[in-house]
Amino acid sequence: MKRIYLDNAATTPVDHEVVEAMLPYFNTCFGNPASLHSYGKEASEGIEKARESIAYLIGAQEKEIIFTAGGTESNNMALKGVAFQLKKKGGYRGDKGPHIITTMIEHPGVLETCRYLESYGFNVEYLPVDSRGKVNLETLENAISKETFLISVIFGNNEIGTLQPIQKIGKLAHDYGILFHTDAVQAVGKENINVHDMNIDMLSLSAHKMYGPKGIGALFLREDISLEPVIHGGGHQRGLRSGTENTPGIVGLGKACELAQKRMPSDIPQLKKMRDSLIRGVLEIEETFLNGHPTQRLVNNTHFRFTGIEGESLLIRLDCRGIAASTGSACSSKKETPSHVLKAIGLNELEAQGALRLTLGRKNTSDEIHFVLDVLPGIISELREISPVWKMTKK
Ligand SMILES: Cc1ncc(COP(=O)(O)O)c(C=O)c1O
Repeated sequence: MKRIYLDNAATTPVDHEVVEAMLPYFNTCFGNPASLHSYGKEASEGIEKARESIAYLIGAQEKEIIFTAGGTESNNMALKGVAFQLKKKGGYRGDKGPHIITTMIEHPGVLETCRYLESYGFNVEYLPVDSRGKVNLETLENAISKETFLISVIFGNNEIGTLQPIQKIGKLAHDYGILFHTDAVQAVGKENINVHDMNIDMLSLSAHKMYGPKGIGALFLREDISLEPVIHGGGHQRGLRSGTENTPGIVGLGKACELAQKRMPSDIPQLKKMRDSLIRGVLEIEETFLNGHPTQRLVNNTHFRFTGIEGESLLIRLDCRGIAASTGSACSSKKETPSHVLKAIGLNELEAQGALRLTLGRKNTSDEIHFVLDVLPGIISELREISPVWKMTKK
C-alpha cells in the first residue's frame, strides 16, 4: 500500500542533502568545536557556516544566533532568560509586579513556561483570539501596562495554522518599550521572515519542522538583549547555553535553512495550491468546516472539523488507507482533553472532537491530494452511519 504523509506540522523527513551534509561531522570532522587543534577547527568551521545560513534565512546577524535543542528549549531560554534577568536586576517598572503578555493559543513550550514563571511572581496575561484564531491588536494594546516587559505571540499556529500580524505586534511592543518574542517554529522556511523589519527581538526555530534533524534548534536574540542563562556549565555560546555544541545537528539545521532559502520561491506557491485544492475538496463534504483563518494561514496547513465524527476514529480509518494525519498537535494528540487552541477559538467539546489536521510538505503531490479527496468522503459517511451524534443532528 502506498503511504501518504500528511503530518508535516508534527515533523518532516530529513532531506537527503541534509543527511549528506551532516555525515562527516559524526566521524571525520568529529572534533570538539572548542578544541584548538585542526579537528576542533573543522567542527567549529562547520558550526559557523551553519550559523551564517540560519542568520541569512531570517535576516539576522550571525552573532544573534544561539543553538539550542529545539523549539521548546528556545522558548524556555527566551522567556525565562528575559524574566529572570529582569528579576535579578530588579529593574521592572510599576508596582504591580512584572507583567508578560502572551496568547491562549501558544504551543506548550511557551504556555507552560509562562505558568512556571507565574509561580515565581510574574503576572501573565493570556490573550483570547477570535473564532479564526487571530489576536486583536486593540485587545493587545489595552492589555499593556507599565509593568509589561515582554510580549510573546506565536507566528503561525501549529494546530489551526493561523498567522498573526507579527510586524504590527512587534511595532506595538516597541512603541511601549517592550521586548517581543515569537515562536516561529512552524513558520520558518515557509514564510518570508526578516526579524529586523518585523520588529522581532527574539525568535524560536526548530530544525525538524523544516527537513532537518530532531533535537536541534536556535534562538535568534537581538544583539543588545541580555538573558539570564537557563543552562549553566562551561560557558559555551557566550555563557548563554553551556554544553558542547551538537555539531552534526547544527550543520543539519544550517543545511536545512540553506535549502529552505533556495526552495521557498517554488515551495510556497506549490504548497498553497495543494492546500487550497485540499480545502476546497474537503469542504464539499456536508457539515464540514475549516478551522483557522481562511487565507491568513500557514501555507501547508489545513484543519477541519466534521459534525458527528470522532477525530481519532477518522485517523485510524485514514491510516488503514495509508494516510498519516493528526487531530491536532503531536504533543496533545495523546491527551484525552480537547485542544486548548480549539477551545480558544470557541469550539465546544463535541466540535473539537471532530478535528482533523492535514499538513503538507515538500514531498506531497497533487495526486496524493486527489487520493485523499477520493477516499475521505466515503470514510466520513461510514463513520456517520454509526455515529449517534450524527443521527441526533439529523433528526
Ligand atoms: C509552534 C511550535 N513551537 C514549539 C515546538 C516545539 O519544538 P521542538 O519539538 O523542537 O521542541 C513545536 C513542535 O511541535 C511547535 O509546533
